[in-house]
Parts: sequence; C-alpha cells; structure tokens
Amino acid sequence: MTEQLWWQTGIIYQIYPRSFMDSNADGVGDLPGIRSRLDYIQSLNVQAVWLSPIFPSPMHDFGYDVADYCGIHPLFGTMADFDALLADVHSRGLKLLLDLVPNHTSDEHPWFIESRSSRDNPKRDWYFWRDPAPDGGPPNNWLSTFGGPAWTFDPHTGQYYLHQFVSQQPELNYRNPEVLAAMLDSMRFWLDKGVDGFRVDVIWMMIKDEQLRDEALNSDWDGFNPYDRIQHNYTHNQPEVHDLIREMRKVLDAYDERMMVGEIYLPNDSLMKYYGQDLDECHLPFNFQLILAPWKASVVRKLVDDYEAVLPAGGWPNWVLGNHDQHRLATRVGPAQARVANMLLLTLRGTPTCYYGDEIGMENVAIPPHMIQDPPAVKQPELAHIVGRDPERTPMQWDDSPNAGFAPEGVQTWLPVAPDYKTRNVAAQDADPASMLNYFRALTALRQSEPALITGSYRSVDAGMEDV
Ligand code: NOJ
Repeated sequence: MTEQLWWQTGIIYQIYPRSFMDSNADGVGDLPGIRSRLDYIQSLNVQAVWLSPIFPSPMHDFGYDVADYCGIHPLFGTMADFDALLADVHSRGLKLLLDLVPNHTSDEHPWFIESRSSRDNPKRDWYFWRDPAPDGGPPNNWLSTFGGPAWTFDPHTGQYYLHQFVSQQPELNYRNPEVLAAMLDSMRFWLDKGVDGFRVDVIWMMIKDEQLRDEALNSDWDGFNPYDRIQHNYTHNQPEVHDLIREMRKVLDAYDERMMVGEIYLPNDSLMKYYGQDLDECHLPFNFQLILAPWKASVVRKLVDDYEAVLPAGGWPNWVLGNHDQHRLATRVGPAQARVANMLLLTLRGTPTCYYGDEIGMENVAIPPHMIQDPPAVKQPELAHIVGRDPERTPMQWDDSPNAGFAPEGVQTWLPVAPDYKTRNVAAQDADPASMLNYFRALTALRQSEPALITGSYRSVDAGMEDV
C-alpha cells in the first residue's frame, strides 16, 4: 500500500468567513475571528480548513468577485492577520486551503478596468468582448446562472462582455495564454506563503467554445431555474479545460504536498476526466452526488457503488454533504437523517468535506425579504426560495448569548442569526454527550484512529430491508 497524503487521510472543513466569527463587531466574520476559534476546529478532528474567498472584492457575489488575487479584504482583516492565522493553523498540524476564483474577476479588478477602457487596450482580449447582434441584442443566447443574459452592453466601447454569474463578474478568456500565466502567478503568491492548496471555483467552466456558438434549447427543462432553459454544451466542460488544469497542477507539483480540489458539477463519466489521464489534474474533483440525490438508501447505495466502480486507478474518492451554495443538510434530509448522513460521510472511503455548522445540525434560516442579499435571489425574487443561498450562510451558532456568540450583543449581523440558536449551539452541544456535535466528534475520532476507515476498501451489504 502506498503511503497516503494529508488530503487523503484528513477531513476538510469549509468555513464561510463572513459567517464564522466576528472579532471586531461589524456584523461580518473575519480572520482574527477564525483564529480565535482554532481550538474548536481542532476539536472536530479535521485536518484542513478551506476558506471561501477572503480577497479584496466589492462583494457583488460575496467575495467570488475578486478585485485583487493577492490581497486580503479589509472586512476580513489584514495580510498580517492572514499570516498569523496561517502560522497558527500550521503550528497545530492543520492545513489551510484558499478559494481560487479563476473563471472571472470583479469588474473592479485592474485587469478589467484596463480591458474595458478601449477596444485596443492590450488587455482587451483578456475578457470576452463582442459586437452586438444585428438587432442590437447580445452576441449569443447564453444565460447567466443568476438570471438574465450572460452578456452586458458597455456603452463606452459599444460592445458586450460575457459573465455567467452577476454582471460584475466578467469572464476571463483562457484562450489568451497571458491570462493563464497571470492566474498561475497568483497561485504561486499564496503557495510561496505556505498555503496548502486551493478549492478552485467553477473549474469546469473555465474555457468556452471558441466560436461562442448558441446553445441548444433544453427539452428536459423542468420549468424552474431559467438558466436551465438552454443546454450548456458550449460553456461547460470544454475539452480544452484539461490543458489549463494540467498547467495549474504543474504549479502545485513544484511545491511539497500541495493540492487542489475542483468545483465540478458533472455526471461521473465527465467528472472522472478531471483526475487527469495520468492523475495530473485535480487531486480531488468534488463529488457532489450526496447533495444532489434524493435521500433514499437504495439511491445512495447505487450512487456509491457506481462512483466506486468508475474511479480511475489511483484516483482518490471524496464526498460532500453541504456547502455555501446548497440548502443545509439538516433541512434537506431532516435532523435525524442528518446524523445518518454524517455517519455515511465519515465512514465512506475517501476524503470527506464538512460545511461549517453541519456538525451541530444547523438548518436553513428563513430570510426576511428586506434582508435578502444573495444575487440570484435579489434578481429573481419569485425564485428566492429555490435559488437563494442566504439561508445556508447564516452566522455560526456558538452559544445562547445575543447574536449566538458570533458577534457582540447589539451588533446587526450581515444575515440573521437562526431563531433556534438558544438551543442549537456549540456550547450546549459540547455539554451534551448525545448531541450532534459529540456524535460528529466521535465519528471523526473513530475515522482518524481506524485505518480501515481511511485506507480500507468498500462494498455495500444487502440488509434485506426496504430503504436500509
Ligand atoms: C461557485 C461558488 O461556489 C458560488 O458561490 C459562486 O457564486 C459562483 N461559483 C461564482 O463564483
């Protein structure tokens, strides 16, 4: 048996920094806040912390619109705060992953400011600029995942630019090699500091059809999310994306034991390609099946068996139950089944990723209409209950004090604290041996002490009962 590396034996814990711990009473979580909670993180027996974006950003998509890949947003602290956090994480034997967002920048990034300044600016081609269609409309029929067309007209130069998320997130053009070179430099900046790797945002969308062809209509559209009215054959999973990922991997491989986990929502056959033909792409292509499938034993059994069957030789599995884009686990499957789901997550073969708060069974929080912040919900209020992501991003529930110990009393938190925080919180669960939190810790401790649960093989066993 070959020796396993930390990202294979360890558990990844995702923190949404805005919502973990507010140290300076502005209602938004920050880096010193996270640092003050490292004892807690360590008590979960996790190995790595992944931080959603902490970079300078106008926050149109809450940090996924990056205005400087090599800085820290003042809301979260300073570079000195970051260095102190990284040092403390490492001194505890833990690892730190950052969120790399290479597909698009903020429209306030200096690259885009240059690019939009004139048609002949040297950075014009770093983004997608196209003339209007003959009727003056967008150049093709592509849609934004957050509603409306994927193109915005810029009167200054009379052309449209492409964005598959909010209009303040212009997409980078990776057919221009200068763009990839610049992004690889940003990776090196953090790797030189000692960061252990990256979760890579929408990695499967990084390159588009060269001719920007119209998408075909989707005959299977369920009538809900307008984005799915069309297929995504020219914007998702283009063959050339693998060349980009191999270049990213080479950068990581020039360092010691760094890794990347790619955000990829694709079916198994396509997903497996993101390990790379010679395992030279993503160390872990995120496997989101447990989030997306109906919560039924027969369905789950089949998806685990199918995934195990198609993993490439040497490809390391991974499993996820929640993240900042999906409704809370305990809301999706109910509080009792949330325990079962965690037992599954923590005993399956492969690296588990846990979303902050799921270890205490946090649920979706109803957001009053005037407090809705998430762009798809703001843009499509009638679909807010389906597409809105605020409900799963609310402040961590630490104790029963006002603001749940996330921020001092009297502070207006950026999203409301869950109404159940007085009973569902870390302090209360810490004291209760039968709590979700202590159950989670018992499972993580068992997993980390039992080699069979880390490097063992897997087979499903027939219980002979319906839905068991
Ligand atoms: C995926 C991220 O997880 C999501 O939160 C974000 O809105 C989009 N990518 C755009 O960056």
